[in-house]
Parts: sequence; structure tokens; C-alpha cells
Amino acid sequence: MPGSPCLVWLLAVTFSLVPRAQPLAGDSEEEEQDETPLPAVPCDYDRCRHLQVPCQELQRAGPTMCLCPGLSSAAQPPDPPRLGEVRMEAEAGRAVVHWCAPFSPVQQYWLLLWEGAGAPQKGPPLNSTVRRAELKGLKPGGAYVVCVVAANAAGESSVPGAEGLDGAGGPAFGPCGRLTVLPRPLTLLHGAVGVGSALALLSCSALVWHFCLRERWGCPRRGRGAGL
Ligand SMILES: *[C@@H]1O[C@H](CO)[C@@H](O)[C@H](O)[C@H]1NC(C)=O
Repeated sequence: MPGSPCLVWLLAVTFSLVPRAQPLAGDSEEEEQDETPLPAVPCDYDRCRHLQVPCQELQRAGPTMCLCPGLSSAAQPPDPPRLGEVRMEAEAGRAVVHWCAPFSPVQQYWLLLWEGAGAPQKGPPLNSTVRRAELKGLKPGGAYVVCVVAANAAGESSVPGAEGLDGAGGPAFGPCGRLTVLPRPLTLLHGAVGVGSALALLSCSALVWHFCLRERWGCPRRGRGAGL
């Protein structure tokens, strides 16, 4: 019979559809309307914001459902964070480093800092909400490399080697950057002002000395006369 395979197929399709179609037509439609508003909004999460609460916590705490960016697996070390603005305070020998979180689960961050061919110095561990840190004790005129490292239970993010940094201007969106501390411009200015003032003071005293000497006792006597 040529019709029977068709009939069997039709029956199979019907039976496979029925059990699925019922829950769809029943409770889940109401659930969709109550729990998940269809235009789902992204969570108020900025991966570059300092003290940013992890997105999963925002999702759990928020009154309405929101969307988080996808993350790499927690079984893998995090991707490297992205180094952002580095604000130098050359006179104080300080720099404030900003970064953005990778799209990976992160438990902590730390900074690596080294000068020239020196060994990298590891900064203190920072929790996963932190996105900026201060570097202290930078030497005027020094040239440093700073890198941000992210870590989780599976390991730590990679740091490019020296050859990775020496590409034209370094990696634009990588975890590392170069820091050049200017030789103290304000100190030079202070020095110039200081020398200028000293010269001015010297010329003034020379002039006073000169006139006082020429008039011999004139200076003190005139002062006394004005007083009387
Ligand atoms: C993370 O570290 C920052 C800065 O030290 C601190 O203000 C914040 O309370 C810490 N957050 C958690 C969850 O420990």
C-alpha cells in the first residue's frame, strides 16, 4: 500500500508534536509573560568600572531579569584584561592604572611592573571588583612596563613577552603598557624660580649696600630722622 508509509510518518509527527505542544500551549505561556519580559535589557554592568559588582550578582539581586555578557569557561584561565588609561603624577612618582575586565570569570587581579631588563615585581592581590590601582615609588626619568594579570581557580591570564611588547607601540588592546616617567618638570621650574629669586635678592642687597656705603652713615640716620 503506497499510503501507509505516509500515514505512519504523519502519525509519528503528530505523536511527537502532541506532548511538546501541550506544555507550550499551557503554563509556559503565562510564565513567559510574568517572569521574563521579552525585550530583555542588558544589566547595568560596565567591565571597565571601578568596584563593579560581578554581573551574575546583579542578575541575582535585580528585580527584573537582565542580560550579562557571555564569559569563557571557569575551567580555563581568564583571558588577559585590557589595560586602559594610565595617569602619571611624575612629581609624586606615582601612576594610577585603569583596566577593563576580560570576558572570563575572574577571582583576582594583580599588577606586574618592571623597569628595563629588570625582574617583574608583583603587586598585591586585588579582588574581582577592582579596576584601578596605584603604582608608587616610580623614579623620575624611568621607563617601565606595567601589565595587569587576571586569575581564577584554573590559572592566570597570559602576559606577552618582551617581543610582544616591542611591536609598533605595543599591543593596543592588551594587558600591558609602557610607562615613561618624565624628569620632574616642576622641580626644574622650582629650581629656575629659586635661582631667579636668589639673583634678584643678591642684586637688591648689592644696590642697598652700594647706596648705604656711598652715604656712609646716611642710611641709619635718615631712618632715625623719619622716626622722630
Ligand atoms: C574589593 O576591594 C575594594 C578595594 O580594596 C574594596 O573597597 C571592596 O570592598 C572589596 N570588595 C569585596 C567584595 O571584597
